This record gives sequence, C-alpha cells and structure tokens, in this order.
Amino acid sequence: MNESGNPQDNSDQGHENQRRGFLVKFAAAAFGGLAGAIPAFFAGGFFLTPLINKRGKDKESDGFLFVGSLSNLSPGGMPQAFKITGTKKDAWTTFAEAALGSVYVHMGPGGELTAFNATCTHLGCKVDYKPETDVYLCPCHDSSFSLDGERNNEIPPRPMDSLEVEVREEDEIWVKFENYRAGTSKKIPV
Ligand code: FES
Repeated sequence: MNESGNPQDNSDQGHENQRRGFLVKFAAAAFGGLAGAIPAFFAGGFFLTPLINKRGKDKESDGFLFVGSLSNLSPGGMPQAFKITGTKKDAWTTFAEAALGSVYVHMGPGGELTAFNATCTHLGCKVDYKPETDVYLCPCHDSSFSLDGERNNEIPPRPMDSLEVEVREEDEIWVKFENYRAGTSKKIPV
C-alpha cells in the first residue's frame, strides 16, 4: 500500500516500474547491437570493395569488354583474335567467368580499329584468319570473308558481324561484344 493507502495505486506503480525496466533493457540491446553492427559494416565494406571496383571496371556497365592490349596490333598488320569471357546466365544459373565467344580486331593502315565476332554467320562455326590469303576462312563450308568482313561467296547469308570497338586508357582495347543469330540475312542479337 502506498501513501495514499489505495491498493490500486500500488498496482499501477508496479506496472510502471515493469514498463520502465523493459524499455531500459530494450534500449541497451538496441544500442549494443548497433555498436556491433557499425564495425561489422565497415569490415564488410572493406572486403566488398574489390568486388565493387571490379564490377565498375568491367564492361557490364556500358556493354563494352576489355579484350587486350593495343600493343598486340600494328597499323596494317594482321588481325588478332581475342577470347571473350564474362557473365553468362541461363534460366537457373549465373556463370561469372564463362566463355562467351571470340573476336578479331584489326588495325588499318591509319590506325583505325575494326572488330568482328569470330562466329560464322552461316551456321555458327568459328572462322580463322589465314595470313597466306589474308582472309577470314570458315572451314565448315569453305567460305571466306575479306578483312572488312564482306563475304567472298554467297553461302553465308550476311557479312561477318561487326562490333563496336574503342581504345581506353591509351592502351586498352574494349569491344562491345554481342552474339547474333546464325543463318539469317538480318543481324539479330541472341
Ligand atoms: S558455317 Fe561458315 S560457311 Fe557454313
């Protein structure tokens, strides 16, 4: 019983004390968790930084992929083949460093770059550059393409698939890689 002599007042006082105790414990737990989370956040940020930077540097941002050094090419020289790896997805799985295809990059006499997907537009075989004849040869049906990608016979339904290419950081060749449907005269991305 309290000073007022009312038992109801005692009961109210007890509930109030219980409520305050609960609030104090809750606040302590919340601040304790926050104090632990802050260093954990910065530690996580430290470990994640290389991944974030890598994603920012690769082509996923604008579709371009780094394929190799410009020093591999010379004005009027032979085209060079570069393998393309990158993220590949199917209905269920994402493959981080999967083989996506390959490209040929050529530097013209004036230093201009051209790039072609190395997949034949007929049925999808891989074409090979042949220095002895200076053409891209498809061995599957004995077809060939000139250095500008044009067909030397009518078996392939369209020229080689040209790709956007540019130089970054003075010495880096970047290509906007894309695969296209084979067997059609239209250039349709797949
Ligand atoms: S697959 Fe290249 S010519 Fe047929």
